[in-house]
Amino acid sequence: MARCRICENDYAEFISFGNMPIANGFLSSEEFESEYFFELKVGFCADCQMVQLIDQPDREQMFHQDYAFFSSLSRGQQIHFQALAEKLLSNYLDGDSPFAVEIGSNDGIMLQHIAAAGISHLGVEPSENVARAAQEKGVNSVSRFFDEELAADVIQKYGHADTISSANVICHIPYMHSVLAGVKQLLKPTGVFIFEDPYLGDIVEKTSYDQIYDEHVFYFSVGSVSNMLTRHGLELFDVEPLSVHGGSMRYYIANRGTREVSTRVAEQLARETELGLHKIETYNRLRTNIEKSREDLTTLLQKIVKEQGRPVIAYGATSKSTTVLNYCDLGPELIEFISDTTPLKQGKYSPGMHIPVKSPDELEKSDPQYLLLFAWNHMQEIMDKEVDFKDKGGRWIAYVPEVGILT
Ligand code: SAH
Ligand code: TYD
Repeated sequence: MARCRICENDYAEFISFGNMPIANGFLSSEEFESEYFFELKVGFCADCQMVQLIDQPDREQMFHQDYAFFSSLSRGQQIHFQALAEKLLSNYLDGDSPFAVEIGSNDGIMLQHIAAAGISHLGVEPSENVARAAQEKGVNSVSRFFDEELAADVIQKYGHADTISSANVICHIPYMHSVLAGVKQLLKPTGVFIFEDPYLGDIVEKTSYDQIYDEHVFYFSVGSVSNMLTRHGLELFDVEPLSVHGGSMRYYIANRGTREVSTRVAEQLARETELGLHKIETYNRLRTNIEKSREDLTTLLQKIVKEQGRPVIAYGATSKSTTVLNYCDLGPELIEFISDTTPLKQGKYSPGMHIPVKSPDELEKSDPQYLLLFAWNHMQEIMDKEVDFKDKGGRWIAYVPEVGILT
C-alpha cells in the first residue's frame, strides 16, 4: 500500500509495467552501463479518485540542462498554443497592467505571443536548455521549479498574477499541495489558473497506456482535480476537452465563489461516472486491455519482420514510446531505428531498449515498407507530411486505440 499524494489515504496498485528507464533519457552507448531504472507502477486512490504513480524518480533526473523535449517542433502544437495565448489575451489579460505566469514554459511556444503583445510575463522553466531557447525568443524566464517558495519570490519581484497557465506540466509535479498553495497565493483575487494535461478518460477509453511514464505522476480526471482544488479554496469553473496529446482536458480554476461555474463541469463529472473513473474495476479492466495490446503488438511486429525479412522503422522518438518499447520488450531485432526531428535525440539511443534514433533524412534513404507510428498524437500533421510514403504503398502500424495496420 502506498500513501496518496493528495489525501494521504492508502491506495492500491493496479498495474506494474516492470523496470523502466527515464522516458526522455535518450543516451549514448557510453552511458548504457550507468542507465537508471525504476519500477513503473500505477495505483488508484478510491478516496479522492486520483490515479498516480507509486514511485517517481527525482525531478533532477528528468528535468535538467539536456532536457530532450522542445515544444515548438510540432506545427500543430504551435497553432494550439497561439490560440491559447490569444484566448488569455482577450479574456483574462485585458485589464490594467496585467501579469501572466506560465509554469513549465519550455521553449516559449505560448509565452512568445504574450511577450509580443507587450504584456508583462514570466515563464517558470527548470530545464535550462529549453528555457534558454525561450529567452532567445524574448520570453522572460526563470530556471526554477514552481512551488510555494518560488511563488512567494515571484510575488516579491513582480506582484500578483492575472493568469497562471500551464500545459502538460501540473501532472508532472508530485508535491501538488505546494503547487496549489503557490498558485493560490500568486493569483490576484480575480485571477485565473488554467491548466491542461492528458485526460484519464481518454487513456481508459483508448488504452493509451503509453501516456504512463516517469514524468506523468498524476493521471487527472475532472473528479480528482475538483477534489484536490477544494482543499486549497480553489474552484473548477469550466472544463474544455482538447484533442491534443491524444486527448487532453483543460481546467479553468479561480478562487472559490469568484466565477460562475459552467454546467460543463457537472456534465463532464456525469460522463466520468458513466465511464466508471471512480471505480477500481475500471482500472483492473484497463490492465487487461493493456496486456492484450502488448500481446497484439508483439505478435503483429514479429509477423511483419518475419515476412519482410528486416526490422520495421518507427516514427517519432516520443517519451511515450519508452513505455511501449520496454513494456513490450521491443528491441533492435524488431525495430531497426526510430526517425525523429529533434536534433538532441538524433545519433543517440532510445532509453532502455537502445534502438538508434536517426534523422528523417535516414528514413528517406531507407525506403521502408512499414512505419510504426509512435507519435500517434500528431497523426494528422504526420499523415499530411508523409503522403509520398503512403502513395508508394507504405503502411502505417498503429497501436492506439487498437493494434493494427492503418488503411
Ligand atoms: N508546456 C510545454 C512543455 C511541457 S513538457 C508544452 O505543453 O509543450 C514539461 C515541462 O515542464 C518541461 O519543460 C519541464 O522542464 C517543466 N517542469 C517540470 N517540473 C516543473 C516544475 N515543478 N515547475 C515548472 N516547470 C516544470
Ligand atoms: P510528443 O508526442 O509531443 O511528446 P512526448 O515525448 O511527450 O510523448 O513528441 C513528438 C516526438 O515526435 C518529438 O520527439 C518530435 C517527433 N516528431 C517527428 O519526428 N516528426 C513529426 O512530424 C512530429 C510531429 C514529431
